[in-house]
Amino acid sequence: MMKPARNVATHSNSNKALLGCLLVAVITPIVILWCMSNRMKNNLLSAQNVIKDIWLPAEEDKGKSFMAAIEMIHTYSLIHDDLPALDNDDLRRGLPTAHVKFGEAMAILAGDALLNYAFETASKAFCGDAQDITTAKAMQILAKKPGIYGMIGGQTVDVEEENKEISFDTLMYIHNNKTAALIECAMMIGAVLAGASEVEVATIEKIANKVGIAFQIEDDILDVVSTSETLGKPAGSDEKNGKNTYVLFRGLEQSGEDAKQYTEEALQLFDALEYKNDFLRELLLYLVGRKN
Ligand code: IPE
Ligand code: MG
Ligand code: MG
Ligand code: MG
Repeated sequence: MMKPARNVATHSNSNKALLGCLLVAVITPIVILWCMSNRMKNNLLSAQNVIKDIWLPAEEDKGKSFMAAIEMIHTYSLIHDDLPALDNDDLRRGLPTAHVKFGEAMAILAGDALLNYAFETASKAFCGDAQDITTAKAMQILAKKPGIYGMIGGQTVDVEEENKEISFDTLMYIHNNKTAALIECAMMIGAVLAGASEVEVATIEKIANKVGIAFQIEDDILDVVSTSETLGKPAGSDEKNGKNTYVLFRGLEQSGEDAKQYTEEALQLFDALEYKNDFLRELLLYLVGRKN
């Protein structure tokens, strides 16, 4: 007896689902590890350490599982930012972008998977102890800052307003959200996990915001004055895409002054905190003076 057509469809759908699972299980991790290791190579950390940090995070150290999670979200944001539908860039950290190397579908899925895996990894920090309330606060920040009221919100306006005239306030909305929100996320989570008070976390948020704005101003400047070789990503991408940038509003010279001003304000707030950390201070300075 012939099987009803519906069963055939179900059968072939379940085969497709199985194939989908296999693809996700096998190919996506390869794309992800490739993207993560490329990112870290540029940061002078070995890919081995990255893999160790990704796969063995939470048990040893709650902070590490959040660090890995934030890096996954950062990497996903860049994979998607480079996609043809967004900035359509073919070079990132001196190498072909994920969609150029693996195709658009894999780049989209790798980004999706990194975002999901970030939460899976961060959630390993819950272990049924008294610290779980602090971990929950950190999870809330991890969920909110890269989301619709943060990075994705900023990216949406950035893309929607290409080739349009916008106000300076809208530009600052874009920069505050597409870039500063993720730096706020990383620094606030660090502060929360270290047991900072609400007031201290709010100060850290302000510092991170100023660093983030300075970082994006610098990014907009470098897009104009640097080369693809130095940047490891295509120079002139903003002009190609008709982006609204800080340089477009303020010019190169004033943009440079403003980036310095934001950094100084961040450092003043930072130096007024009770706890000192020379490494973090150096890092904040490095971020703004960077050449790529
Ligand atoms: C992207 O801003 C910010 C995010 C990835 C969320 P840009 O588009 O200016 O970043 P680059 O210049 O491609 O690195
Ligand atoms: Mg972009
Ligand atoms: Mg871009
Ligand atoms: Mg840019």
